[in-house]
Amino acid sequence: MDVVQYPGPVLRRGGKKVESFGPDLSRLAEQMLETMYSSKGVGLAAPQVGVELDLLVFNPSGDPEDRSGERVLVNPELLERKGKEFGEEGCLSFPGLYADVERAVTVAIRFQDLQGAVHEERLTDFVARIVQHEIDHLRGVLFVDRLSSVEKLRVRTRLLEMEERVPAPSRGQARA
Ligand code: CO
Repeated sequence: MDVVQYPGPVLRRGGKKVESFGPDLSRLAEQMLETMYSSKGVGLAAPQVGVELDLLVFNPSGDPEDRSGERVLVNPELLERKGKEFGEEGCLSFPGLYADVERAVTVAIRFQDLQGAVHEERLTDFVARIVQHEIDHLRGVLFVDRLSSVEKLRVRTRLLEMEERVPAPSRGQARA
């Protein structure tokens, strides 16, 4: 699977609620994990592979040899957030771009597993940060939307480069 890079429009569309649980969903999650590992990431949301579903995967180690922290969350929602902390984030849809983002330190989430069972859980620190970043993807929100004005200014040139990299439909073609 290819990771959609900014400013791919699907990144702004986000995901829709998963209604159908079965082998297709499990296969999608498995493919997303493989894509995440081969891209050297620690988290990936379905819209980043062009699939508009509320599904995310992560593994804080980012290491396919250490899958103890590997997780798949279906239809995740944030129930509660506590504390605030800045930390550096990157995103597989923004290769080479890193910036400080403020996130809650602890979050409570509700989600379904691949069988559709509902769970509630409290997450903290790095794992909480990953999950907040990925849930944002499901809402069409990107980490660059959450930067301070100073950070925004710092990454502005790089963002503009990315925006120009994907050609918009040319006016000539539109007239043809
Ligand atoms: Co991301």
